[in-house]
Amino acid sequence: MKNCLSFDDVLLVPKFSEVFSRKEISLENKLGSELLNIPIISSPMDTVTEDEMVVAMNNSGGTGIIHRYNSVRDQASLVKNCGNAKVGAAIGVSGDYLDRAKAVLDNGANFLCVDIAHGHHALMRYALETLRNTFGNDIHIMAGNVATREGYEDLAKWGANSVRVGIGGGSICSTRIQTGHGMPTLQSVINCSESELSGEIPIIADGGIKNSGDIVKALAAGADFVMLGSLLAGTKESPGGVYHENGETFKVYRGMASKDAQISWRGHTSSIEGVTSTVPFKGPVRAVLEELCTGIKSGLSYSGCTSISQFQASNSFVGQTSAGAMESNTHILFRNKR
Ligand code: IMP
Repeated sequence: MKNCLSFDDVLLVPKFSEVFSRKEISLENKLGSELLNIPIISSPMDTVTEDEMVVAMNNSGGTGIIHRYNSVRDQASLVKNCGNAKVGAAIGVSGDYLDRAKAVLDNGANFLCVDIAHGHHALMRYALETLRNTFGNDIHIMAGNVATREGYEDLAKWGANSVRVGIGGGSICSTRIQTGHGMPTLQSVINCSESELSGEIPIIADGGIKNSGDIVKALAAGADFVMLGSLLAGTKESPGGVYHENGETFKVYRGMASKDAQISWRGHTSSIEGVTSTVPFKGPVRAVLEELCTGIKSGLSYSGCTSISQFQASNSFVGQTSAGAMESNTHILFRNKR
């Protein structure tokens, strides 16, 4: 049995650096023909990405994917509300997915995201082949999620231009508890990045990213982008209202396979593989992204790198023990705890 590494199992060893200022560092990367200034994509979830989030992500240099848990007409109008936005739109692999694809493309979507829980599946192959036959080769299609290099390579072979990598790692995900299946997201990224296709087919690390340090580790492991749910949930631009409780302000964040989400989008539940939670209200997403990007740039600077491609080639991971992981946290706080 192989040991699989998660974000907290590893650290990057600092290297000699000649980077004098974070201004020297570029976080830009290409998703198909789109050049994005930051390597961050907001997740197609109904408490994360609708029109306002996409606009805010664009304003900070990233992009977002409008979720598919609504009517075709509603999703198309959310895509349209963004005007000239760099915007992706999620679709499934059955039912109305072709109508949905046509509607969102007609309304200005820049790329499609074939968004299913277990992407390494015959239904995905059929959907990708059908989408290619229907819409041709010019449209960028992201697909996922997968956990393995085989999954990543198959999706690329079937027609995907970029692949979401990570199964069971999401903060609101109970797939591993419910099904016993999954793989630590960092390990999945490491395995996919060993493929000859990496570099050609962007890897999007998705699920379980808790802070800028995890983003830095995902990029070092070979990811080209990260996809964020919980880190962007609870912001002003995430869909949903604000709740007040004991003087604190919250918003709801829920897994799309949670009981609540399933009941609201299809009226019944089948396999429940997610939970509903509240997250503290965080204010505008711009401030959250600024803080994350400052951390990412500092991360590149600790490795002496000024671009993502340079950083991806400079892998310096070491494992850390649980004592090391404890030392990595701000442990002074625990001492004063009463
Ligand atoms: P987070 O950034 O750790 O919160 O993870 C977000 C990711 O979790 C999403 O981009 C999806 O890949 C995944 N996800 C969303 N909803 C569910 C669910 O209900 N169950 C399992 N995974 C989910």
